[in-house]
Amino acid sequence: MVDKFLTVKEALAKGKGKVQLRGWAYRERKFADKVFVVLRDSTGIIQCVIKKDAVPAKTFTSAEDVSIESSCMIAGELKKDERAPGGYEVQATDFQMVQRAETFPIAKDFSPEFLLDVRHLWLRSRKLTAVMKVRDTVLWAIREFFRKDGYYEWSPPIFTPVACEGATTLFEVKYFDDKAYLTQSWQLYAEAGIFSLEKIFTISPCFRAERSRTSRHLAEFLMAEAETAWQDFAGLQKQTEELVSFIIQSVVEKHPDELKEIGQDIAKLKKIKPPFPRMTYTDVLKLLKEKEGKSIPWGKDLRTVEEDLLMKHFDKPVIVTNYPKEIMAFYKPADPKDPKTALCMDMLAPEGYGEIIGGSQRDLDVKAMQKALKDAGEHAEHYQWYFDSRKYGSVPHAGFGLGVERIIAWLCKLDTIKDAIPFPRTMSRKTP
Ligand code: 4AD
Ligand code: MG
Repeated sequence: MVDKFLTVKEALAKGKGKVQLRGWAYRERKFADKVFVVLRDSTGIIQCVIKKDAVPAKTFTSAEDVSIESSCMIAGELKKDERAPGGYEVQATDFQMVQRAETFPIAKDFSPEFLLDVRHLWLRSRKLTAVMKVRDTVLWAIREFFRKDGYYEWSPPIFTPVACEGATTLFEVKYFDDKAYLTQSWQLYAEAGIFSLEKIFTISPCFRAERSRTSRHLAEFLMAEAETAWQDFAGLQKQTEELVSFIIQSVVEKHPDELKEIGQDIAKLKKIKPPFPRMTYTDVLKLLKEKEGKSIPWGKDLRTVEEDLLMKHFDKPVIVTNYPKEIMAFYKPADPKDPKTALCMDMLAPEGYGEIIGGSQRDLDVKAMQKALKDAGEHAEHYQWYFDSRKYGSVPHAGFGLGVERIIAWLCKLDTIKDAIPFPRTMSRKTP
């Protein structure tokens, strides 16, 4: 074969004539006089037929030996064929096995746990291939969104000396003769970064030792975070809904085929455009009481079940603001108009996908933050370097973090967030 191959997608677009393809045997069916191979590559699948009377005897013997996931190269004539999956068929004039695969361990009807055990192989599935393409677009869309708004991509450290989101979910690691923690969020560093660049963002791994086995929590995940000098609370909320909508519209535009494959309703996603409804935490409690008969004492954080009950009433994300100050991270300031609440927001996704964004205005009052840290049982003195950002030309600022796998799970209608990342890490799994 000459070294000129089309992808399956390119071949389908060409529609007829001579093609040369390479990939993996996705399906095979063997008869005395012909072998069918559905060939898979990163772009799609296409049926190929190798007929005994159309190729040399040695080539046919080699085709008869093909097994699922064998890597192979096929040359032939592409024709329309209504009976073939995808509507086209390649009638082979040449077939070459690159490597004959051993019996592939994944056939049918395996448990989710088994599929996680063989994740390195299951990544080849049509579903995960589609999800990973959506993931790629989500990451590029985030970068595009911020870049066109004049943001700089800025990298935080991953080894950190202190907690950002509470000490209970910190991963402690050996650090030479000392210890350190894996970062939970870039935020404290980003708040130092804005004094030079003003508008910064990152897409960076975050680590949380969440002792919860849920469909929403990973121990290692990507967070897309932004921190913005001079941004106010209304500006923050507006930016988050614009970002989410931009991501969705990018995915819808680029991936109609993948979304169809996954079983997602594209028309439904297309409708998700700003403005998103805003509610305060107090409004949420009222709605839950009136519409769901559920009483939650004011001051208690919303749990997943309550978020899900709330979101039954919406088909767009909702921005919930003004959670009780007491239960919020130390850097979230009291709302001057309602000081028992904080100038903070969560964006909740519909259909039970939960919190996709957490953000806030940042407290500028060092004493208030020191007190909040102390109340939470943490060592305020370890945050001295952070408080410096409030000493030398402090400015109002705000920021947020978007859970990348959370939004992918929602957009791809996944049963679990684990399928939104190539190799998920959870409380019960760190392999393969
Ligand atoms: O709400 P969180 O904890 O906010 C922060 O960490 C802020 N410091 C961010 C900021 O203001 N720069 O986390 C932000 C988002 C959540 O809304 C959620 O989508 C995601 O990160 N997230 C997780 N995703 C997967 N697995 C986990 N264990 C997650 N924890 C948080
Ligand atoms: Mg949060």
